Amino acid sequence: MKFFLDTADLNEIEEAASWGALAGVTTNPSLYARIGGKVADFENHIARICEVVDGPVSAESVAMTRDEIIADGIRLAAIAPNVVVKVPTMIEGLAATRALSERGIKVNMTLCFTVPQAILAARSGAAFISPFVGRFDDISEDGISQLYDVVQAIGNYDFGHDVEIIAASVRSANHVAQAALMGADIATVPFNVLKKCVEHPLTDRGLESFLADWEKVKNA
Ligand code: G3P
Repeated sequence: MKFFLDTADLNEIEEAASWGALAGVTTNPSLYARIGGKVADFENHIARICEVVDGPVSAESVAMTRDEIIADGIRLAAIAPNVVVKVPTMIEGLAATRALSERGIKVNMTLCFTVPQAILAARSGAAFISPFVGRFDDISEDGISQLYDVVQAIGNYDFGHDVEIIAASVRSANHVAQAALMGADIATVPFNVLKKCVEHPLTDRGLESFLADWEKVKNA
């Protein structure tokens, strides 16, 4: 499974990229708003992320009609070769995804919650599909089991093009572990969750004892 960072924060992206295991970034309008982003600077900001990240960078269209989504997608894809256009799973989004994929533009279908939605996204040409785990949990459903169903269903078919499942709306290291166990292709995680994936109290305790023992060795 690959790790993407789910953020628009350049400091977080630069920091995570320096750790050596970052394979991509996903952004959305909420994440851009969270860093105080301005509409006029959006495309420059995506360009800056694309320079830092060696991998796909999802930039979301906020349009609601197919023609507007297609126009957005063409503009966003022109920013850098690694831009992936994020499109919501809805009828206009499916139609736009078909048109964009036929132009060779990669689409990440987002806000996906069910197996039928995921199959339709793949059939419309989406290169990435993002089932949301945490938001399913938020309504007292089981987000991990829904992600599992999507991974299984997509694996049943040959769509004639690569389709990667991105576990999205990931809230914990346990979500990440479950996504990896079921064979999700990618987990896109907030910076704090990525840190939690690296850290473990037993690692810290082990390190402390190794360092203490090494002091003894040096003084022996
Ligand atoms: O990747 C989708 C993500 O940004 C949504 O996460 O935590 O707002 O549900 P969340």
